[in-house]
Amino acid sequence: MLPVILDRTSSEPLPAQLAGQVRALVLVGTLGTGDRLPSSRALAADLGVSRAVTEQAYDQLTAEGWLEARRGSGTYVTATRTTNAAAPQVTSRPTAPTSGPTGVTSGLDTGTPFFDPRLEPGWRRAWREVSVATPPRGYDDPRGLLELREALAARLGRTRGLDLHPDEIIVTAGTTDGLRALLPELRPGPVVVEDPGYRAAAETVLTYGREVIDLPAVETVGDLGDAVAAYVTPAHQHPLGRVMPAADRLALLEAARRADAVVIEDDYDSEFRYDVAPVPAMARLDRSRVVYLGTAAKSVVPTLRLGWLVAPPDLHELILRRRTITHAGAAWPSQRALLTLLRDGWLDRAVRSARRVYAERAPRVAEAMSPYATLAGPLAGMYSTWLLPEMEARRARDAARAAGFEINLLSTYARTSGLAGLVIGFGGVTDAELDRALTALTGALAR
Ligand SMILES: Cc1ncc(COP(=O)(O)O)c(C=O)c1O
Repeated sequence: MLPVILDRTSSEPLPAQLAGQVRALVLVGTLGTGDRLPSSRALAADLGVSRAVTEQAYDQLTAEGWLEARRGSGTYVTATRTTNAAAPQVTSRPTAPTSGPTGVTSGLDTGTPFFDPRLEPGWRRAWREVSVATPPRGYDDPRGLLELREALAARLGRTRGLDLHPDEIIVTAGTTDGLRALLPELRPGPVVVEDPGYRAAAETVLTYGREVIDLPAVETVGDLGDAVAAYVTPAHQHPLGRVMPAADRLALLEAARRADAVVIEDDYDSEFRYDVAPVPAMARLDRSRVVYLGTAAKSVVPTLRLGWLVAPPDLHELILRRRTITHAGAAWPSQRALLTLLRDGWLDRAVRSARRVYAERAPRVAEAMSPYATLAGPLAGMYSTWLLPEMEARRARDAARAAGFEINLLSTYARTSGLAGLVIGFGGVTDAELDRALTALTGALAR
């Protein structure tokens, strides 16, 4: 029996679903070259579908070269995932993404920033400029659009205390794209990732065939062992919220020097402090050890798919070389649009207005939640994290879900730390929706 599950409610036709799942079984190595598949008749009976479904899927996979039909003998796997030193190897299978149920209206997630309607003219202007500009012919500079790098260098100097030449910046398609660019250039070895931590980072490390070593998110690191990199969110630990103390930053850098490892600084939402000025970037302390990753996902929108990477010179060269050869890079229209938003001050306005909104919403969340749960870090950014037992967190999450809101459990960010609670984002909803969600949450917690 093949381990496949067909979803009859999906809009994807059943033969396509079946073919996709068999392809995936070959890719992860569950099915290997020479394995015999059940006959289309037997598989159709197992899955409770018509034989036409299994035949169509087998025909498709045969045409694509995954399977071969041997006359009178059956259907066999012909292709296997090839492994060689240069190709990424999956050591541990990435976990399935957690997605909310259909029908949920609003996400109180950490990934949807506030977008002030007053900024719409700036957004439209940016895209009007894209529409009349002439795109570069052929493949452009793999570091990204020069004017954009100049504007980014100026802004990172002003807001993050980083003194950068535009040529030191590589424009990426976001934080995770920056991580994908970096990982192949590091020598073999595991990568330390905060736990709880940014799920996309741990998954990306696994996808590139490297082991993830869990670093308890609020502990001082004195030793990185044989790790080649440590992925951290020093300005606002994701998702516990703490700022990495200066002594811990220095200890981590020292540990990285001893291990000849790099620190990967994910500086995703540091501009959204409402009590103090943003904490300066860790990269300021040692540019030769830190790979700095920035993103437009929080200050503009994630769908722009833009970010920036600053790496020590040797890694910068390696990353650029591979990005040139592989034609990796950020899409020109997005880069050109971000240039307008930066140049004309729209981005600064967007950050200021979002900061005002978060500064007003964060205490409202705190007021509602503090009778029932413990705040994990200082109030900052576009979400806050609340510690409470898993059972209670689930009960509250379910109540919010019934009211039409999706909220993440802290346990889904934790790999071995075992922490439980709720991560409540407040950027992607209206004030009224936030109130309704909090009423649902606190109603369940009070019971
Ligand atoms: C911790 C953290 N880093 C980075 C990002 C942004 O990643 P990307 O730029 O790849 O969208 C997010 C988005 O939610 C995040 O939560």
